[in-house]
Amino acid sequence: MNKDTKKIVLSGMQPTGDLHIGNYLGALKNWVELQKKYKCFFFVADYHSITVAYDPKEKKNQILDLVLDYLAAGVDPEKSTIFIQSQIPECTELAWIFNSLTPIGELERMTQYKDKAQKNIKNINTGLLTYPILQAADILLYHANLVPVGQDQTQHLELAKDAARWFNNRFKVNYFEEPAGYLTETAKIMSLIEPEKKMSKSDGEKTYISIHDEPETILNKIKKAPTGTGDEKELPAGGKNLLNLLTYFGKEEVIKHFKTQVATHNVKYGEMKTAVAKAIADYLAPFRARRAELQKNKKYVEEILADGRQTAQKIAQKTIGEVKEIIGLL
Ligand code: ADP
Ligand code: TRP
Repeated sequence: MNKDTKKIVLSGMQPTGDLHIGNYLGALKNWVELQKKYKCFFFVADYHSITVAYDPKEKKNQILDLVLDYLAAGVDPEKSTIFIQSQIPECTELAWIFNSLTPIGELERMTQYKDKAQKNIKNINTGLLTYPILQAADILLYHANLVPVGQDQTQHLELAKDAARWFNNRFKVNYFEEPAGYLTETAKIMSLIEPEKKMSKSDGEKTYISIHDEPETILNKIKKAPTGTGDEKELPAGGKNLLNLLTYFGKEEVIKHFKTQVATHNVKYGEMKTAVAKAIADYLAPFRARRAELQKNKKYVEEILADGRQTAQKIAQKTIGEVKEIIGLL
């Protein structure tokens, strides 16, 4: 439906707390790359985030913090549209329409739903179940072609494709194009404390490095990471994790230095930990500086969000108008 030849990229994250280096390497860094080539929309999925327990007093700050993270990481408001999901009510309108086209069974089999329902046994609300429908509306409202997400979102993306097809079939139109996933070579960063598991916000502060952590905090967290004795034939998971982190964040000569230690089964973990912590702190320093600057300039951020809202809403209103006509409400 979109006549613009430039493909449309859209993605979002939930404002649920601190971003960690896994979120940065796995998602945010890719967005910054994609905006060089495509027309991009990056939003804050605040409606998705209220499906689990939260403190209403904190939510606004979490939303703003996430926008600051997007900007500080390099998402450029000149190139990309940045907006807040809940400010575009057409999204929930479209989600309602998709509700009426989606068999319940398709939602009940979603692994993330099953996971979250198990973890929130006292709060298995309808929003947890219909979460992927809202995500489909996010994507299709803007006629996105490419959706850069992590592996864990593949099932949700399939549902967005299904929603496009169900809509077209039900109303005998060829209105929504099926979006495609964009699973880039996503780095899977592992937990500091349990290096066999992926790094995740939900496992507690000690297990991840936040992109806002001060150098001392980074060092203290890394110091607590389990390793081995240094003379093993095969590098233990904790050692592998540290070496990986060094590869992502460190300088060539430092990486080489420790690879030699590994090859000669003579890893000095104390030295390695200091080096990894320094590499990460140095890498994050410009990000933290940009973020501190942005934080002082609330007005600028508000303007970006007002612009983003306007751009997004224009498209959203057009889509919802066309959709209502197709389904016989206009
Ligand atoms: P978390 O598990 O920490 O709550 P989210 O589910 O909010 O993370 O994920 C936000 C984005 O970051 C997603 O695109 C996801 O694929 C990516 N991501 C999350 N954890 C990691 C990780 N450890 N390594 C790489 N990417 C990750
Ligand atoms: N569910 C996604 C996550 O937890 C966030 C999200 C909501 C999203 N709507 C989206 C991602 C639309 C891509 C496209 O990471």
